[in-house]
Amino acid sequence: MKKYFLDPVSPNFSTFLDYMTQLNNKVEQYVKPDMARVPSSITEKYAGLLEKENLSEDGEDLDSVFSRLAYYSQGLIRWNHPGALINVNPPATIPATVVSSYFSLYTPNGAQDMSTGYLLTTELAVVKMLSQLAGIDYKQSGGYFTFGGKSTNIHAIKHGLQRISPDYGTNGLSGDIVTFSSTQGHPCHAEACNWLGIGDKNCIRISTNKMGEINLEELETRMAESIEQGKKIACITVNGGTTIQMTIDPIKKVADIRDRLVEKYHLNYVPRIHVDSVIGWVCLFFKDYDFDKNPFKFSDSALQKLKRQMLRISEIKYADSFGVDFHKTGFAPY
Ligand SMILES: Cc1ncc(COP(=O)(O)O)c(C=O)c1O
Repeated sequence: MKKYFLDPVSPNFSTFLDYMTQLNNKVEQYVKPDMARVPSSITEKYAGLLEKENLSEDGEDLDSVFSRLAYYSQGLIRWNHPGALINVNPPATIPATVVSSYFSLYTPNGAQDMSTGYLLTTELAVVKMLSQLAGIDYKQSGGYFTFGGKSTNIHAIKHGLQRISPDYGTNGLSGDIVTFSSTQGHPCHAEACNWLGIGDKNCIRISTNKMGEINLEELETRMAESIEQGKKIACITVNGGTTIQMTIDPIKKVADIRDRLVEKYHLNYVPRIHVDSVIGWVCLFFKDYDFDKNPFKFSDSALQKLKRQMLRISEIKYADSFGVDFHKTGFAPY
């Protein structure tokens, strides 16, 4: 067994690399370089596969475990292949993958600097850099790593609930709570309500115009209606680049509506505005691009689209929070 662990006195790192190579050699047997997807000869259903999977009393040697893992890589999409164009799934870079695999040797715990040391600085640094990118004073902002895009939306709504009732974590939810999104918003905007006990039916979906942007008049009317019915608004989730269409809603105008209603109805809390920018945040990188000189020589049509998206996403600073996914447009692995 000892050979499976790094020796604490004379760490033999080459074992790590040898095992990587061993696994890679086995997976590569299934890969066809000209195909985006690893071809699959598996015809059984999961139930059939499970019948063959049993806890072994005697253990199993690593070579056999790797062979069986490689067998299951059939059907895997290779995102680095130019033919892989499904959804927003950029390939992970090799350095990003190395960093995550390498530090896994030490199982750092993102919740504890006691065991993780100064590696947690990376979280603070990333939050600072993203604040700078968004034009927000990093000394006033905060943020943290979560477990994915859905989780960024869950966190935003949770914070919205805390605004309505600061002791909701202790006492639980009370009263009628709603959230807002548009019909083009991701399904997880409602799933987040499900997870938080608000209920997916209380995520009110506002219609969109033909460009997929949220209908502002309808949003204002439906928000006012909810307030008049005594409901509390935990969050307005604004699109900051939708999954297929890359639609970015008018963030500032939504913030203006929220502010108007807070004043009109003398609300004792401010409904949270969260931008689901897990894909579109990346457009912020173009805020300093010289669109006149166009040094990257983008085509006219690409240049116009990039500029429009950049101008729209630059309004992110008017929201209370926004989400960023590195496994989408950050070339990092999940
Ligand atoms: C706009 C948007 N929001 C949220 C999500 C959910 O992200 P995740 O699958 O990482 O939970 C996705 C995923 O595709 C998305 O495209």
